[in-house]
Amino acid sequence: MGVWDTLLPSLGPSSLLGVGVLLLLVFLFCPHRTSSQKHRKEPPGPTPIPILGNLHQLDLKRPDQTFMKFAKKYGSVFTVYMGPRKTVVLTGYKTMKEALVNYAEEFGEREAPTVAKEAHLDYGVVWANGDSWREMRRFALSTLRDFGMGKRACEDKIIPECHSLLKEISKFQGEAFDPTLIINSAVCNVICSMVYGTRFEYDDPDFRTILSRTMKGIQLLGSPGVQLHNLFPRIGRLFLSASKQINQIFTANKNYHLKLLKETFTPHTCKSIADAFQLRQQEEDGCPNSHFHNANILVTIMNLFTAGTETTAATLRWALLFMAKYPKIQDQVQDELSRVMEG
Ligand code: HEM
Repeated sequence: MGVWDTLLPSLGPSSLLGVGVLLLLVFLFCPHRTSSQKHRKEPPGPTPIPILGNLHQLDLKRPDQTFMKFAKKYGSVFTVYMGPRKTVVLTGYKTMKEALVNYAEEFGEREAPTVAKEAHLDYGVVWANGDSWREMRRFALSTLRDFGMGKRACEDKIIPECHSLLKEISKFQGEAFDPTLIINSAVCNVICSMVYGTRFEYDDPDFRTILSRTMKGIQLLGSPGVQLHNLFPRIGRLFLSASKQINQIFTANKNYHLKLLKETFTPHTCKSIADAFQLRQQEEDGCPNSHFHNANILVTIMNLFTAGTETTAATLRWALLFMAKYPKIQDQVQDELSRVMEG
């Protein structure tokens, strides 16, 4: 899906004419970028046009596929103009490893997309940078380990959840079904038991709502409409319904997590990551430079909930698909499970 397929349906005839005239004027009067590209010796790339840059050449639904084509033509490091924004794309294992491992400090920053900034989500870990990011990340990782991540203690949370999941699966009595919802629920419950010290019934309406909003939010983040809004904030706010939708989702999720933070807080037992963060906040109360303020705590907790659920659930769904397709691998997995569980 190209930029026009996304933008055109949202525009009325007069807006369309206005955009057309504007584009024509800019095209005629803007200096062409190719010469400056050569002049500045930036990595090679496709020739951009004013305003849109190379957006007209990108499949906005699968930009990765267009980037793979560009990589074949221009090499593993190339320049693409995402609208007016110059972007250098790195592709392939060797290049990525060199950048992210050998030059970790230089490549460590991550820009928060416009939609995240608008919803004040550029705190926490995922969309933050600098000292605040370092501190939140360090504390989140060490607390995750304290609550069992990567250790046997985590089994106490995973095994009961597996039983609940099996019970749900047995309700389908061997008939085909879409496992997305119950796998999301099971994974989210394991994350919730670490993050909030509590789990939810799969049919709990609030749990279902937060899960489906979270998944929808992640899906929208990669949608062409939201990507265009990130590049052209004014156009997005006026025309693109996806950017309005994602804003509503982020705001509703924030409110729900705020409620959970308050309701589950048990300072005397400190039974969860959320408790640990809030206790640390109390310890640092009055400290003017403390990073443990409300916005950082809320967004870090939301980051763990969201980043932990979608990724793990999607990985498990892929695993199921591959096992259904390759029964030999399925047998090997079953053998390994039986061996390990017996031991
Ligand atoms: C199969 C499961 C998972 C996959 C494939 C996955 C993948 C990723 C990837 C690719 C990144 C970006 C790394 C980077 O840009 O440097 C990331 C970051 C992150 N993940 Fe995961 N993840 C998984 C599970 C989890 C879980 C279980 C949690 C938490 C409970 C989690 C929390 C995070 C956080 C907080 C970040 C941001 C880190 C930062 O910006 O410093 N992820 N994950």
